Amino acid sequence: MKILVIGGSGTIGKTIVKFFKKEHQVLVAGRSSEEYPVDIADTKSIKDLFRKVKKSGKVDAIICAAGEAKWAPFKELSEADFHIGLRSKLMGQVNVVRYAHKCLKRKGSVTLTTGILADDPVYQTSSAAMVNGGIHSFVQAVAIEMRKKIRVNVVSSGVVMDAYHKYENYFPGHPPIPMDKMLMGYRRSVSGRVNGEVIKIYS
Ligand SMILES: NC(=O)c1ccc[n+]([C@@H]2O[C@H](COP(=O)([O-])OP(=O)(O)OC[C@H]3O[C@@H](n4cnc5c(N)ncnc54)[C@H](OP(=O)(O)O)[C@@H]3O)[C@@H](O)[C@H]2O)c1
Repeated sequence: MKILVIGGSGTIGKTIVKFFKKEHQVLVAGRSSEEYPVDIADTKSIKDLFRKVKKSGKVDAIICAAGEAKWAPFKELSEADFHIGLRSKLMGQVNVVRYAHKCLKRKGSVTLTTGILADDPVYQTSSAAMVNGGIHSFVQAVAIEMRKKIRVNVVSSGVVMDAYHKYENYFPGHPPIPMDKMLMGYRRSVSGRVNGEVIKIYS
């Protein structure tokens, strides 16, 4: 398979890239990528990326492990702060699905990334949790309409082991998710036949 990974240099993304590279061709995209630069908060940038990717042949799968949202106490979040998450993690990933057909083969898959905050939020995450929950509903709904063309799923994991040192204090009592376990969510979406699924890996 040929797989495009957006956010492929991040904690989750680089683990995904390393895993799929063993058996597949993997293209790595992100804001700081020289070969496949993209900012998912910018729709034109997504279209430009997909146009460039298509030049070397359509891909079998797109994985997005990118997207930001502002973390702060609810009372301190401005409307502009909420818009960071809406533009980047929410609409950024929605737009990846909207324009996927430009570089994705028929019956190919798109796998998005959210996280446990959708179901088990912690302090300071009203924006991030809201965005994750929105993506879960979007994926279930869009899959109904797209099932003859592409598959769309989302992997929602708890704090992953490789980022635990960074987030441990924000997630008291949350067990870290081993990277191998997290990877199985992406494998299930890319190599399996599931569609419209919110793949939850919370323990
Ligand atoms: N870490 C966890 O425990 C965990 C658990 C569940 C879910 N998540 C979610 O999974 C996603 C990735 O998390 P992570 O920990 O791997 O983050 P990370 O280490 O900060 O990596 C983020 C990756 O996405 C790229 N990126 C960020 N914003 C982008 C944008 N607007 N357009 C294109 N690429 C962008 C970054 O590269 P550039 O800077 O070069 O663009 C980088 O490759 C996030 O949405 C996060 O909320 C994380």
